[in-house]
Amino acid sequence: MRNRSVLVTRRIPEEGIEVLKTCCRTVDVYEGKRAIPRRTLLARIKGKDGLLCLLTDRIDGTVMDASPKLKVISNFAVGYDNIDVDAALQRGIAVTNTPGVLTEATAELTWALLFSVARRVVECDKYTRSGKFLGWDPLGFVGADIHGRTLGIVGAGRIGTAVGLKAAGFQMKVLYYDSLANGELEERVSAKKVKLKTLLKESDFVSVHLPLSEQTSRLFSVEEFDLMKPTAIFINTSRGKVVDEKALVRALKSKSISGAGLDVYEQEPEIESELLKLRNVVLCPHVGSATTDTRKKMAVMACRNLVAALSGERPANLVSPVESKRGKLLQATSRR
Ligand code: GLV
Repeated sequence: MRNRSVLVTRRIPEEGIEVLKTCCRTVDVYEGKRAIPRRTLLARIKGKDGLLCLLTDRIDGTVMDASPKLKVISNFAVGYDNIDVDAALQRGIAVTNTPGVLTEATAELTWALLFSVARRVVECDKYTRSGKFLGWDPLGFVGADIHGRTLGIVGAGRIGTAVGLKAAGFQMKVLYYDSLANGELEERVSAKKVKLKTLLKESDFVSVHLPLSEQTSRLFSVEEFDLMKPTAIFINTSRGKVVDEKALVRALKSKSISGAGLDVYEQEPEIESELLKLRNVVLCPHVGSATTDTRKKMAVMACRNLVAALSGERPANLVSPVESKRGKLLQATSRR
């Protein structure tokens, strides 16, 4: 076991590296400030038994074949759409992720975006800093109420559930769309399971918590935004590719919806240039899980998964074949 070698594709919290060092002879950490270039990845994975990668790394059969010794791919993320799980299964390589530990942090960022857009926090901040605040204004920066309004959760898995439960604090009505009934949301916040169309028509805030799959890719396009209320605010902290970003820009510009809060983008890190010009959007750089404690927990979990697989044990967070198949259905929202 101690003669194993692993590649870590970016610096991660030291707590995780310590876990790897107790068991591996070589812990090769890519120190670059951006995602590891493909060529570097293909070169540095050679001879490695384990790979700890990020959601920004595309891990396909070519990467896997570059190291015939590879036994495990541990993703430092809950979503694993960056990994060709079927290719890994065919090669007998275990794939793991980091579910659960980032649920609350991501739900909190979702609410931060919702509040920022509804109450125009970023606009207000820019205005105030620029010295334009000359006194209280009865018509200045009016935004949208949150309390008592309807929150629509698209994808009621772990994160969607955590977002929905917090709505109770604001006396909101909660609707959700998922293929599975969510007893916790129904019991604790009287949430109602509805069809996607109904949710889009009736919600004041639409928040997306779907894994990316063939079925969810560009689920939000012209038709979906057209169904939403002109006062609606759209929030996405899941994956950018579930949204047709051009359709979103069109909806925002034509005022067919009122605003958006985004943490993820269709062609990350590229962002549709028109989005950057709109005042009714708040944009974050994919930081849903970015709290000190959450990132430490993710590092430890991802590294423990990797070490377990290299020791011949079943990792706690194995992305099983069953989940991989179900990942193609909306049912898989329960794993996020
Ligand atoms: C972040 O987006 C994650 O999937 O962990």
